[in-house]
Amino acid sequence: MRALLAAAGVVVDHPGSPRVLDGLDLTLIAGRRLALLGANGAGKSTLLRCLSGALRPSSGAVLVDGEPLRHDRRGLARHRQTVQLVLQDPDDQIVASEVRHDVAYGPTNLGLDAAEVATRVDHALDALGIADLARRPVHHLSFGQRKRVALAGAVAMAPRVLLLDEPTAGLDPAGTVALLETIEVLEARGVTVALSTHDLDLAWRWADEVAVLVGGRAVVGDPGVLLADDDLLRQAALASPWQARVLRAAGAAIPTPRPRDAEDVVAALGIRESAIG
Ligand SMILES: Nc1ncnc2c1ncn2[C@@H]1O[C@H](COP(=O)(O)OP(=O)(O)O)[C@@H](O)[C@H]1O
Ligand SMILES: [Mg+2]
Repeated sequence: MRALLAAAGVVVDHPGSPRVLDGLDLTLIAGRRLALLGANGAGKSTLLRCLSGALRPSSGAVLVDGEPLRHDRRGLARHRQTVQLVLQDPDDQIVASEVRHDVAYGPTNLGLDAAEVATRVDHALDALGIADLARRPVHHLSFGQRKRVALAGAVAMAPRVLLLDEPTAGLDPAGTVALLETIEVLEARGVTVALSTHDLDLAWRWADEVAVLVGGRAVVGDPGVLLADDDLLRQAALASPWQARVLRAAGAAIPTPRPRDAEDVVAALGIRESAIG
């Protein structure tokens, strides 16, 4: 298992607020889905900003392939081609008024020639299913569409790691399904995805590994174990996912592998389909 991106002993003090991250360790493995969980203010966005290079930790290090990130111009320019962060609010990310120009912004700044930029933009718009929006003004688009534009901008940088800060927040259910499908497309292209979320149902279903932020550190492990750990969830001010609650209410242990969706839970409980019509 290859450590692609890691936080080692990361400490962050924001001026005027209590210490946010307090010696946090976390490792992203290539090809493994990581969900970052924690209550409001737990430090999810702060950690993602550290991992992306946008925020320099007060102490500790961010490592790519085991090499510490250097926060100088060259180090950060290189880092941006490996790791891209998509902010929770697309309006904090979008810089140009037309979709195509916005998605082209990052690759253009890399100094790529126009043909390469155009290819990258086309691929990113295709991956996000928004090729038809290419010439539209960004401010005419819906929130969900602007989120896709922001994600396309990150994809056009051809990163190995995509960090998504609460990518489903504010999306309707169809938008969430579409996002998860997009993530699969990106994973098939070799991108490793980590996301932060409040949605523990989603984390249970989607993630290979979860990191629960408590007291400025990450408790990392298997979703089927950590998201059924009531003490941990209480400390983190989170509520357990429905899958774990249903199994518990039925008096069933959580099997390995865990039942991820409704069909799996029904099967785990030994309920025959005839019984639920
Ligand atoms: N730029 C900043 N200046 C001061 N405090 C900040 C700043 N950004 C975040 N914080 C504080 O850091 C803590 C963690 O915030 P954040 O990382 O946004 O948490 P989360 O994303 O888990 O909701 C909060 O208490 C927040 O108020
Ligand atoms: Mg946040």
